[in-house]
Amino acid sequence: MSVNTRAVLQDGAHFELINGIEILEMSQRMHEIGLSLGATTVEHGLIGFGDPKPVRIHSEVVYHEDMVQFFMLGCVERATDGGTTILYDAVKAAEIIKAEHPDIAEVSMTFRAEHYEGVSTTVPLLREKNGQQFLGFRQKKKQLNDLIGLPKDVDEDTFYDYIDSVLDRCIEFEKTLSPGEVVVVDNYQTLHVRTAYTGVRKMIRVRVDDPEDHREYLV
Ligand SMILES: [Fe+2]
Repeated sequence: MSVNTRAVLQDGAHFELINGIEILEMSQRMHEIGLSLGATTVEHGLIGFGDPKPVRIHSEVVYHEDMVQFFMLGCVERATDGGTTILYDAVKAAEIIKAEHPDIAEVSMTFRAEHYEGVSTTVPLLREKNGQQFLGFRQKKKQLNDLIGLPKDVDEDTFYDYIDSVLDRCIEFEKTLSPGEVVVVDNYQTLHVRTAYTGVRKMIRVRVDDPEDHREYLV
């Protein structure tokens, strides 16, 4: 059955890998999948030219109160080496933190946008959407994060190391996408990262109902 007619992310799936998409049809297919998940889609064109360094673990659009629930990554050209996409179970991460460190589960964070001037949000570390708690988070990056309500015996570095140690236990997808593959992601149930790479890596990223799509992107 074609992805045009098949529903994606059924039964609460955290992500879905679709393959065999013709490169020239990829953008349109992603747009159609996006429309089936929300009202509008924003395509970010080809990404991956600029910075082959690893990104840090994050939730997409973490700096907005509602983030964005769905996004997609489609592979046009694979890097020579690396460029692996890893997804982490954000619901399991929230459960682990609540069980192991209820005090850390009460922390709030301010996240400032790197590429949109004046955009920030202050939210609980464990957010709740659709009746489910999840970790909405971005690893320490420049001066873009503030921590609020950190327990007295936990310093910032310990906090960030602890979250990394939780997420190490929550990997649920790890793959270097090949041309023609698209991963559809529920951002309310996962966090993600992309490893370092060499060579040229061309990806299409599509966000569904991006709350900042009307803003000018600062580069
Ligand atoms: Fe991302």
